[in-house]
Amino acid sequence: MPSLLHARARPVAILWLLVEGLSPAAAQDAETLLGQAIYAENCVECHMEDAGGDDIAPEIAGIPRNNIRRAMGGLEGMPEFELTAEEVAAVHAYLRTLDD
Ligand code: HEC
Repeated sequence: MPSLLHARARPVAILWLLVEGLSPAAAQDAETLLGQAIYAENCVECHMEDAGGDDIAPEIAGIPRNNIRRAMGGLEGMPEFELTAEEVAAVHAYLRTLDD
């Protein structure tokens, strides 16, 4: 898992430079897309497509950002992830779109 994240670090940095120059609405869309990509690569296998959870992992759709930040340190049954603050914000933005 960590090796995948490191391989992604440079494209993510470039994406964020682009985001800085976008209108607020476009930047928000880009942030959500980034969050979706991170989620698909690292989280979906346990938390499921709709972030509704299953018998492996709990529901995390719409979960507060602090809970995500805390979970990145690793939990019982969940590995540690090295996400930047921007990446955590992006995952948070994406998970909000899954909250119903
Ligand atoms: C190997 C399976 C697995 C993967 C992969 C995984 N999780 Fe988890 N996650 C869990 C389990 C199991 C828990 C419950 C741990 C506990 O309650 O102690 C959990 C808990 C959480 C929580 C805490 C929920 C709360 O109520 O505070 C958050 C947030 C979370 N995961 C986010 C993520 C994100 C974001 C990713 C991807 C970067 C991810 N998880 C990847 C298994 C996983």
